Amino acid sequence: MRKALYRGPFPYTRMRRLRSSSFIRHLVAETEIGTRDLILPLFVVEGFNQCQPIESMPGVNRLSIDRILEEVVEVESLGISAIALFPMIERSKKTPMAEESHNENGLIQTAIRKLKANTPNVLIIADVALDPYTSHGHDGILDKRSGNVLNDATNEILVKQALSLAHAGADIIAPSDMMDGRVRIIREKFEKEGLVNTKIMAYAAKYASAYYGPFRDAIGSTPSLEKIDKNSYQMDYRNLKEALYECSLDLSEGADMLLIKPGMPYLDVLKSVVDEFAVPTFAFQVSGEYAMHCAACDNNWLSREQIILESLTSFKRAGAAGILTYFAKDAAHLLLKSI
Ligand code: PBG
Repeated sequence: MRKALYRGPFPYTRMRRLRSSSFIRHLVAETEIGTRDLILPLFVVEGFNQCQPIESMPGVNRLSIDRILEEVVEVESLGISAIALFPMIERSKKTPMAEESHNENGLIQTAIRKLKANTPNVLIIADVALDPYTSHGHDGILDKRSGNVLNDATNEILVKQALSLAHAGADIIAPSDMMDGRVRIIREKFEKEGLVNTKIMAYAAKYASAYYGPFRDAIGSTPSLEKIDKNSYQMDYRNLKEALYECSLDLSEGADMLLIKPGMPYLDVLKSVVDEFAVPTFAFQVSGEYAMHCAACDNNWLSREQIILESLTSFKRAGAAGILTYFAKDAAHLLLKSI
């Protein structure tokens, strides 16, 4: 413990004094979470008036663009700052080279354009990665012979994807693919195109994690969860120093913000990154974390109302600037109720 915090034995110290009423507890609270800290991930699907439940994520639905527009009006009224869009691409449009990822009239590009016309102030975070678009479900393209994900060839497609998303009006581009050097080439391209205010939130430390299972279900990126192995590009969960190295590289390449993922099992990583770098750092409470909480709450093993704010506050306490969470709307309702 820091010396300044330790006052030594003192006969009248009573820690409970400052816990004795809710007013004093509010006054001395070290961490505050607000609706502005929340980012809601949304799944977009083709069609009209579509609302498809995702089995492993109770309460989360894939929505067609018309329904997304309505949803984001509500999101704005709740004071949530931003949304993050993820597509469910039809099987027939998935290819080995993921051409659909940079179709300027693609699902996400169209969604962004319509959202910007409808709710211009809600920030849009657009994911850059090929997994929703590849027939094999990997985040990059594969070397035919070895089956390896090719780094530099993938980057060439990622930059096209990023450009099409930025031109459509995305405020923030979020490369989640973990290819080396992609932030640099995206930033250089943006500068050349005059997109000087498009922000890059780099998924700098993204671990190869089993907690993404329900997400892959949601975007239909793989028919069988066990089969897809992303260990050759996502990080090894035994490593922390490597995460700091990844973050420093993404910053030197031109990232404005960092993202750590998954969330709760990686709070140590988040805290270390926050302590090391002076940039806004975000956390993603991922699909598997959402599913775990829901499963326990649906069984009445945990209290949903309590667990949502407790879990989200832990990210703020660890230093997160904001949190991507599927609980964003529930949390906003709880926060607005508590004022
Ligand atoms: C795509 C991507 C993934 C997530 C966000 N972007 C999945 C993956 O890397 O396999 C996971 C989000 C979640 O689980 O909620 N690269």
